[in-house]
Amino acid sequence: MKFLSGIQPSGDMHLGNYFGMMQQMVNLQAEGELFAFIANYHALTSVSDGKFLKKSTLEASINFLSLGLDPKKSTFWVQSDVKEVLELYWILSNFTPMGLLERAHSYKDKTAKGVSANHGLFSYPVLMASDILIFDSNIVPVGKDQIQHVEMTRDIAIKFNNAYGEVFTIPEFRVDDNVATVPGVDGAKMSKSYKNTIEIFSSEKQLKKAVGKIITDSTPLEEPKEWQDCNIFKISKLFLNEDEQENLKDRYGSGKEGYGHFKMYLKDVIWKHFEPYREKREYYLNNIDIVKDILSDGAKKASAIAQVKIEKVREVVGIDY
Ligand code: ADP
Ligand code: TRP
Repeated sequence: MKFLSGIQPSGDMHLGNYFGMMQQMVNLQAEGELFAFIANYHALTSVSDGKFLKKSTLEASINFLSLGLDPKKSTFWVQSDVKEVLELYWILSNFTPMGLLERAHSYKDKTAKGVSANHGLFSYPVLMASDILIFDSNIVPVGKDQIQHVEMTRDIAIKFNNAYGEVFTIPEFRVDDNVATVPGVDGAKMSKSYKNTIEIFSSEKQLKKAVGKIITDSTPLEEPKEWQDCNIFKISKLFLNEDEQENLKDRYGSGKEGYGHFKMYLKDVIWKHFEPYREKREYYLNNIDIVKDILSDGAKKASAIAQVKIEKVREVVGIDY
């Protein structure tokens, strides 16, 4: 079973990225062959500062490695090191109906929020399809917002296979139902673009500040509180086992503590959870050459697979002569 997913290096990683995708990927290393990459071409749709993109690409790689991605078990690379995806992207564009792209929620949401539409943003799902199909991925672990992109990939692959035979494996998405969508401090989906994130690797002071911004109702300290719709609870839950969740529910009902206490508790839980990963991150930050070697080995492994597939595609579409 081949699992594949990518993450854009477009800013600091947050709890949504961690629970929605990275943790799933790290756990999947025990179940099958894992392919993970840093989607820097995709990031160009939202980043227009070259220095920032360079820095973020290395940082994202370091973060993923720190969170448990094991380069001995998995193939880990930077998207732009395997240029075959760009050739496939063009070929697949010819199997992508305009209507399919026009229906993309992610594109529609972004343009509705005032992001100016360009061709990169519009055709983004075709590049994503290329990422997935070039490696014959079976399963694509993603957060809920990316499901439609995987469905589009299936449509494109089926159309291509109908024309040229069984060239591509038809992939499936996988979403962790316990997570689905991690809420941000304002209760909306946690996202870099909404500026409502809690970052994974900030300082303790910054973490306290981010958690402090979580919006709650105004039930006074001495009254019992509802945990069901509370954003502090929803985020805390992601880190807690059943007993710990029950315990927190009791504290909500007791009327002895205020939201400030629950925020402090959440901050401590988050800080403790990422402690071992912070140590690993320090190591990689101090050994950038090791990180670059890992990425270069990963790119070689990924390229070898991509080259075989693109040869096959060229042959069937008649680009080779
Ligand atoms: P952002 O919305 O901050 O730009 P990305 O689009 O780069 O995040 O998402 C990277 C990965 O993390 C994707 O698989 C996405 O589905 C997942 N993800 C991002 N935010 C969340 C969230 N709030 N809840 C669950 N998964 C998320
Ligand atoms: N679009 C994904 C995101 O923003 C990143 C991505 C690019 C990806 N190519 C992919 C995810 C292929 C899964 C498979 O999160």
